[in-house]
Amino acid sequence: MPPVRARTLFRCQACGHEASRWHGRCQGCGEWNSLIEEVAVRGAAGLRGGGDAQAAPVGIDEASEQGEVARLGTGMGELDRVLGGGLVPGSVVLLGGEPGVGKSTLLAQMLSGLAEGGAGGVLYVSGEESVAQVALRARRVGAATPRLALLAETSLERILAQAERAGPAVLAVDSVQTIHSADLPSIPGSIGQVRECAARLSGFAKARGIAAVLVGHVTKDGQLAGPKTLEHLVDVVLSFEGDGSTPYRMVRAGKNRFGSTQEIGVFEMRSDGLVQVLSPSQLFLAERPVGVPGSVVVASADGSRPILVEVQALITPPTAGIGRRTVAGVDANRVSLLLAVLAQRADCDVLGCDVFVNLVGGARLAEPALDLGVALAIASAARRRPIDPRAVVFGEVGLAGEVRAVSMADMRLAEARKLGYRRCILPRRNRERLPDGAGGGDLELVPVDRLAAALAAL
Ligand code: TYD
Ligand code: MG
Repeated sequence: MPPVRARTLFRCQACGHEASRWHGRCQGCGEWNSLIEEVAVRGAAGLRGGGDAQAAPVGIDEASEQGEVARLGTGMGELDRVLGGGLVPGSVVLLGGEPGVGKSTLLAQMLSGLAEGGAGGVLYVSGEESVAQVALRARRVGAATPRLALLAETSLERILAQAERAGPAVLAVDSVQTIHSADLPSIPGSIGQVRECAARLSGFAKARGIAAVLVGHVTKDGQLAGPKTLEHLVDVVLSFEGDGSTPYRMVRAGKNRFGSTQEIGVFEMRSDGLVQVLSPSQLFLAERPVGVPGSVVVASADGSRPILVEVQALITPPTAGIGRRTVAGVDANRVSLLLAVLAQRADCDVLGCDVFVNLVGGARLAEPALDLGVALAIASAARRRPIDPRAVVFGEVGLAGEVRAVSMADMRLAEARKLGYRRCILPRRNRERLPDGAGGGDLELVPVDRLAAALAAL
């Protein structure tokens, strides 16, 4: 072990960049006045990660056999799906979200689900609330189970000592920003502390095969405080989102070493805790206006699940000389591109107008299959002609104005049929690839290969 030596360094509190001298402006991210002096202790656990055991190379075929571990179910299918099928023992999950969104509530429900599902002992460490407060909330949301042990503590060393003694299968810390290590002189919540604590908790969990869940606050611009530097320390980064004006909350994975990052889990915050929303299509379409131009239902998908969402568009004369675009829920660059394609290839030029595009219900999706819906919503708004309320669309739009095939056509059609839609405008290639008889029943399939043809079909 090398001798423990202290050295002074300056660390940016925004991006974690290290500098040997103080600068007014961080050379890593360009933020002003963000460098703070820290004493780095060489030889401290730092970012070393896992245990100290000597690792030896293994053949890939042997490795894959060892790697298939049983996942721990959280009792909430919406969360398990986002995790990639449950929590992986020995993995570290970072759960981020704005203050008040419901992270502690989700954590309590998840931990009780894990404990009751036979995961083993669960230790819930709170650095923010007293044991009585955590217990009160847990009881209120039906998460008080005897196998869930609570600890109110902010000292990293004492948390690790207690966890060592209790030997839980799952260790949760709410939140990582409140924990501090005595090895570092910087204040709790500073980047150095957050990184050190996350790294030591992660190393502890990995060495013992414990699953760890770390709660992290995000700042107003949506960054995990103590930010990017934490994300590569952990295996899974979950973000818990909601816009405050609705009781709906979404959990999604920004990074997942054990599953897809396309899945989203939808919850509703009620007075007795979070309730899973198993059919988000109904939620997103609940207040859909009928017979109004600019509204189209898209058979979209997040990862493996189809979701029907409403795209709305509004076109107004330019307020500031040039046309502005205001976009929520879909990619703004994609909207600009579709406006150009509509103008050049489908004889629908609104480039000079103000264009508003919105995915209703606070949904946020990024997949090519939304293109056709966005383009048709804009065209419907521009021409002031409503679209058949019982029609649903999906398809990618290319620069030549062609409508291209997308994945999971059968699942999208099944969801549309389930919700009672009568017509579906879809890419011709998708239609051709469907088995004979698919689509049958009362869902009429309208295959198109050009954007202009899709406009004519509606
Ligand atoms: P909380 O889980 O404490 O949020 P976070 O840990 O992300 O800061 O809960 C946030 C809000 O949720 C709180 O203001 C009240 C509300 N809430 C409910 O509506 N129902 C409930 O059952 C609970 C526990 C909280
Ligand atoms: Mg909390």
